[in-house]
Amino acid sequence: MPGGGDTPFADQAGHADTATAALPHYRVRAGLSGSAMRKAPARPAYVCRDCGHAPAKWEGRCSRCGAWSSIEEHAPGPAARTPGRFSAPVFAPELEAVELSKVPDDNAPRTATGIGEFDRVLGGGLAPGSTALVAGDPGIGKSTLLLQVAAAVAGRGRPVLYASGEESLSQIKLRAARLGLAGEGVFLVSTGDAAEIAAHIASRRPALAVVDSIQTAYLADSAGGLGAAGAASRGTIAQIRESGGFLADQARLSGTALLLAGHVTKDGAIAGPKVLEHMVDVVLQLEGEPGGALRLLRGVKNRFGPTDEIGVFEMRGDGLAEVADPSRSFLAQRQASTPGSAVATLIEGTRPITVEIQALVTPTFLPAPRRVSNGVDMSRVLLIAAVLSKRLRLPVATSDIVVNVAGGLRVKEPAADLAVALAIVSSLLDRPVDPGMAAAGEIGLGGELRSVPQAPRRASEARRLGFDACLLPANGADSEDGPPRTKADRGILAVSTLVEAVRAAIPEPSR
Ligand code: TYD
Ligand code: MG
Repeated sequence: MPGGGDTPFADQAGHADTATAALPHYRVRAGLSGSAMRKAPARPAYVCRDCGHAPAKWEGRCSRCGAWSSIEEHAPGPAARTPGRFSAPVFAPELEAVELSKVPDDNAPRTATGIGEFDRVLGGGLAPGSTALVAGDPGIGKSTLLLQVAAAVAGRGRPVLYASGEESLSQIKLRAARLGLAGEGVFLVSTGDAAEIAAHIASRRPALAVVDSIQTAYLADSAGGLGAAGAASRGTIAQIRESGGFLADQARLSGTALLLAGHVTKDGAIAGPKVLEHMVDVVLQLEGEPGGALRLLRGVKNRFGPTDEIGVFEMRGDGLAEVADPSRSFLAQRQASTPGSAVATLIEGTRPITVEIQALVTPTFLPAPRRVSNGVDMSRVLLIAAVLSKRLRLPVATSDIVVNVAGGLRVKEPAADLAVALAIVSSLLDRPVDPGMAAAGEIGLGGELRSVPQAPRRASEARRLGFDACLLPANGADSEDGPPRTKADRGILAVSTLVEAVRAAIPEPSR
């Protein structure tokens, strides 16, 4: 057991607190370190409760974050925290520098959770010693997902620690019962105390540790000198940074994969954990439409795998279920004959995904027309509207436009442009898009269609879903390995401009 003794982790926690811990690569030479540091003059420390700023003098208003009355005085701890800065320390390396070519391969196997959609986003499973942040709005399903992942890993015979600062043991038990999880091999602690959680990680060395949530985690005696204020200041940026970094270090030392739940602020930024984002190895965002059942898990950052991969789940009465065929789910509620609906065939990560793009275009009563977009980048919508106005001479300048991606997916690919444009034109003209047609293409400022990667795969996916025609930019569409087609199939329809595409997809009604 690391540390030894009865309370092995008090030692670890205390150690992380000393100044030398902040200098992982150098150690102040023995003889100078301990004594020089302890002799440093004891002066009171002032620390901002909110942001961790440490001004030299007391301030009524924090000069960094602007919070009022947030500066607190702290008596210096037993070991002063300023390293022996004035004692001219001699730095001597303790670690040997290793030649890159001699570094042994790290083949530590990933811990696959068995939840396919989760493993996919991680790039094959949890990497030992890594830290991943699972971020999302409150109520989106983070705790549900994490408990299911915990039970899945435990079910594969690997020990799991589940620490919750948000729920009591019996509340977690209730949730587990609802999810139909017996919970063997999942060890619970109901605390936000990071030192306590670290102690459990170090003693049990679980394959996976879950901390729900980072906003409720705190270090009672963080390096920011928060002292007893630690527990009270949970959720502040300083605490999130301190306890997040501390837990990540402990996980790395124990070879434990750490999953942190993090709440997101209304404006979409990961609250506080912005500071955490670069400290963790992986950031996963759990998203979904308000009121909708689909949940999308997106890799925002991944040190070990792809970042554009998405996992698709459905929130059910008994928890999150993997969606076997996301394209079908995204199209499930489509009303093909309604004007304003078009189908985009996209590549999300390594797989093709087909979504419905909806648009509602109405005459505006405002001096400046309104543009609303859910799921498509507003800059793309504005570009498309401008091209429709200039190249197709459509009256978009006097129309309000609302664009929505059904199912709550946030589309990143410019290949969605063509479907967005078709949906807008369809609503504007009040004529439906050809119901057997899917589309992909990036729109250029000249109204030209730019090639999209993996055109044949998009066409195959569209075909699998029952679309007999796939509208693709002429440039790059004429690949040999397009999907096989039957006689009735129109197959790939290559178009080179938006005008051509509109003509093909939204035909004049035959009289
Ligand atoms: P939760 O995981 O608590 O969200 P978070 O941790 O992100 O705040 O999910 C809460 C919501 O999920 C709540 O509205 C109820 C719903 N839910 C289900 O629909 N089915 C379930 O099996 C569970 C556990 C929750
Ligand atoms: Mg929760």
